[in-house]
Amino acid sequence: MPFKEGSLIFAPMEGITDVHYRETILENYPEWDFVATDFLRAPSVGPYPVKHVLKHYGKTSYEDPNKQSKTIYQMLTTEDALTEDTVSKIKGLGFKWLDLNLGCPSKTVCKHRGGSFLLSDLVALRKVIKIIRASFPHTFTAKIRVGYKDDTLFKDILRLLEEEGVDAITIHARTRDEMYKGVAKWEYVKTAVETVNTPIVGNGDIWTVEDIERYFEYTKCHSVMIARGALKTPWLARLYKNGLVDSQEIRAQEIKRYYRSYFERVDKLDMEELKKIRRLKAISRYIFDDLEDGEQKKRSFLLSKTREDMFSLLESL
Ligand SMILES: Cc1cc2nc3c(=O)[nH]c(=O)nc-3n(C[C@H](O)[C@H](O)[C@H](O)COP(=O)(O)O)c2cc1C
Repeated sequence: MPFKEGSLIFAPMEGITDVHYRETILENYPEWDFVATDFLRAPSVGPYPVKHVLKHYGKTSYEDPNKQSKTIYQMLTTEDALTEDTVSKIKGLGFKWLDLNLGCPSKTVCKHRGGSFLLSDLVALRKVIKIIRASFPHTFTAKIRVGYKDDTLFKDILRLLEEEGVDAITIHARTRDEMYKGVAKWEYVKTAVETVNTPIVGNGDIWTVEDIERYFEYTKCHSVMIARGALKTPWLARLYKNGLVDSQEIRAQEIKRYYRSYFERVDKLDMEELKKIRRLKAISRYIFDDLEDGEQKKRSFLLSKTREDMFSLLESL
């Protein structure tokens, strides 16, 4: 298997996991085994210039072999899009791990028959998987939900991906129509492990060190991927790997370090101050939750109008 069992993967998140954010994570929290880009959408007309494929990933991470070896390139496509051309450019640049987004629930993406829509059309799905598998000789993984409208095709989807030689399957254990409702059902991941031999990466509602431990024990999955839990506790992989227990002190100290480090990168970008402030707000939906008066602190942070206000709140933690 191209990646080791028990890996902890920082999930792809559109609007968050661009190169600046990923590098902040890799440098401050190297205990994450992998991070993922958000999705590059294969175009339906006009091939992508290679430079766009590179830009989506970020030149600085591309030029750093350590960062490159820990980064997953995610793409999204449809039956009619220029899949082969896009994949050949990703391969041509030398990337070694390509992930296909089959979980995106967005109305626009699904209207164009991409993302989770493909889970409802297995003929189109097989066609797309075959194209990618034939064009990409390195690690090729698929990130799915348990179905589109319901879970009736779940096992068929798993078997299809196994037959077509996908290297691992990440499962966000909800259907597309469930969006983010309720709690992800971990039992789907257990079922998947029992259904196919392809390594399974479990995803959905893993928030704490205890969750990671229980998740591995219950589902027997190969690895886990964490999105919102990683935004809440970006140092979660460190806690897990070093057997540490989170506390108010650790949270306060890490939150300061994390925001300072991210903002240092953001501040070098050629963009308006307002956009820089928005970037800090975009990563702040969950991180204050476990602090004393967390709701109040989050509200003040999200209402802050200047960097000075934001950082004075952070320094007071
Ligand atoms: C803000 C945000 C953006 C996301 N963008 C992507 C994306 O670009 N690609 C993808 O495969 N999943 C994306 N997801 C889904 C997550 O990767 C993950 O599957 C989902 O949030 C469930 O995991 P969690 O319970 O750990 O959050 C996104 C999730 C969030 C919250």
